[in-house]
Amino acid sequence: MPAVPLLAFSWPPEAYLWFKTLHIVGVVVWFAGLFYLVRLFIYHREAEELEPGLRTAFQNQYGLMERRLANIITTPGMVVAVLCAAGLLSVNPAWLHQGWMHAKLAFVVALLAYHAFCYRLMGQLQHGACLWSPKQLRALNELPTLLLVIVVMLVVFKNQFPTGTATWFIVALVLFMAASIQFYARWRRLRAERLAAAGGDGAAA
Ligand code: HEM
Repeated sequence: MPAVPLLAFSWPPEAYLWFKTLHIVGVVVWFAGLFYLVRLFIYHREAEELEPGLRTAFQNQYGLMERRLANIITTPGMVVAVLCAAGLLSVNPAWLHQGWMHAKLAFVVALLAYHAFCYRLMGQLQHGACLWSPKQLRALNELPTLLLVIVVMLVVFKNQFPTGTATWFIVALVLFMAASIQFYARWRRLRAERLAAAGGDGAAA
């Protein structure tokens, strides 16, 4: 009599679609958290320009918001996205033999490193030891956008990935982001100068 494997397991036919649904939901939640987390870091650092009484109150509040966002939204989103990705691969392990998946996994490792780095920055901010300026944090905040665009292109185009067009697209995106950051920094500086001048006039009047 042939041996019957007691632990033989096969996924129900719709399991793949469930994993994919939850994978996409996890990815959306993860990115929403990552985008807003570094924005809070920027406000946290900018609060250093406030007068001492207000500064402590604002920084405490930003610290609390950062911890809650990271622990209640961003990390759980990441866990759901990664666990469901593992589910997708266990239902269809053939993906693991394809080039686009290897590239995707490499960018996902970069994204996980970014996630861990955000926790490190959050710890430094809590202790008043963050050396990143608001402008540098704004530039850092563009990194997940780039990773998102690349990973989504990989998963949509798969082995038909349009390397040439995609490279131009990414270069244009990076230039646009760099120009926006410079433009915004200049606009803020000019506005601060205008406000200071208006304050000076008011005092003289
Ligand atoms: C943890 C590593 C990851 C693995 C192993 C993984 C694996 C997969 C697999 C196997 C699919 C199904 C592909 C298909 O059925 O056509 C998929 C879909 C998808 N993944 Fe991931 N993924 C990972 C992380 C991510 C991340 C970080 C993002 C976003 C930046 C992402 C975005 C998507 C999207 C948008 C789809 C739906 C694509 C479609 O239905 O055409 N994945 N992923």
